Amino acid sequence: MSKTDWRIGVAGLGTVGGGLLEFLLERPGFSPTGGQAIVTGISARTRARPRPFDISNIPWFDDPVALARSPENDIFVELIGGFEGPAKDAVEAALLAGKPVVTANKALLAHHGAELARLAEAKGVPLLFEAAVMGGVPAVKIMREAMVGDDILSVAGILNGTCNYILTEMEATGRAFADVLADAQRLGYAEADPTTDVGGFDAAHKITLLAALAFGCAPNFAATEVEGIDQIDLMDIRLAKDLGYRVKLVASAERSEDGVLVRVHPSLAPMAHPLAQAGGALNALFIEGQRIGRIFVQGPGAGARPTAAAVAADIADVMTRAVRPVFQKPASELKPFTPVDPSKSMGRAYLRFMVKDEPGVIAAVSETLAEAGVSIESFLQKPVENADGVPIVLTTHAVAESVLMAAIERIANLSSVLDRPRLLRIARI
Ligand code: HSE
Repeated sequence: MSKTDWRIGVAGLGTVGGGLLEFLLERPGFSPTGGQAIVTGISARTRARPRPFDISNIPWFDDPVALARSPENDIFVELIGGFEGPAKDAVEAALLAGKPVVTANKALLAHHGAELARLAEAKGVPLLFEAAVMGGVPAVKIMREAMVGDDILSVAGILNGTCNYILTEMEATGRAFADVLADAQRLGYAEADPTTDVGGFDAAHKITLLAALAFGCAPNFAATEVEGIDQIDLMDIRLAKDLGYRVKLVASAERSEDGVLVRVHPSLAPMAHPLAQAGGALNALFIEGQRIGRIFVQGPGAGARPTAAAVAADIADVMTRAVRPVFQKPASELKPFTPVDPSKSMGRAYLRFMVKDEPGVIAAVSETLAEAGVSIESFLQKPVENADGVPIVLTTHAVAESVLMAAIERIANLSSVLDRPRLLRIARI
């Protein structure tokens, strides 16, 4: 080792940790700033398990906190995951020891980002998390560095590859959610416990962080509205397509004079729109700045190699010795997060009602909408095989969410309506 080399401690040897080790061990000499990045300590749940790289010469730590504190490494890389427990303890220990931290842990930062940022900044060390959002796509650097001279108005996009893969497969193969999910698990695209992904929570962690970067507010996961894709019906994917839309899990954050609205919902994107065109496991994001205008980035949001490349880029940043605020501004200046009441938000919507096929049903539905002040944009009634009743599908013009919800409730109570109405928002992109 030379004096300019950096000693790296890596905790967590799962998909991303393994990808990082392969990169750093197989291509020794990663020296983006002159000195080399050398792995000098590792920690994981199990030491003796087959791995495609040799760890026998690297000091092993059973306890990631001990690795985080060890004076034998200069940078601590946390790839354990989870927002409590060893990941949090180890990150705190490294920061308290005055050590730069690189992490891919979106859940940790979405829940505890403000306190960890205060700790990092009090110690004058970087806490970097490029790999936490969109895997290999440098969304964090774009927002924290490249767009720092602008005022960001909104961010919106596809932030979960697993959900995007499942939705793409459902549309392409005509199979139901549960079937496609089971295949995705077999192929390794989805975890054995898929709740974090398909429940929308992973995308919600990521958009919580992007909102903090965009608007200079403390990350506040509790204020993020979350709806996943687990209730998506193949029928809606097909009917939305007939109307010229594709169903995507869209995460968005927008600011207005009243505050910030951060949400994750299955949403409709017009078929030719770049978000509708981002298929399979891709991630895609629009960022709108007051002066720069709109930027669009797309790429692999998961996977060992892309995500490990993002971790390596953060290690390179630490090696430049630059220390920026963790989020958009110093932790002491982050604004408290002021959530906007979602019921006041305006937007267009797709609605599906399963109704009895009898005279007067369409009139009753459209009269109820008209009385509530909801204006219909397009309308479709299409018999569907093996379904109870027929679906009436419509899209609305922009309407306040409270008005829409009240109308849906009234329609749900009509005697000719057989099932709970389905609502999908049309993405504001
Ligand atoms: N499981 C995530 C995804 C990647 O499917 O996009 C890590 O956040």
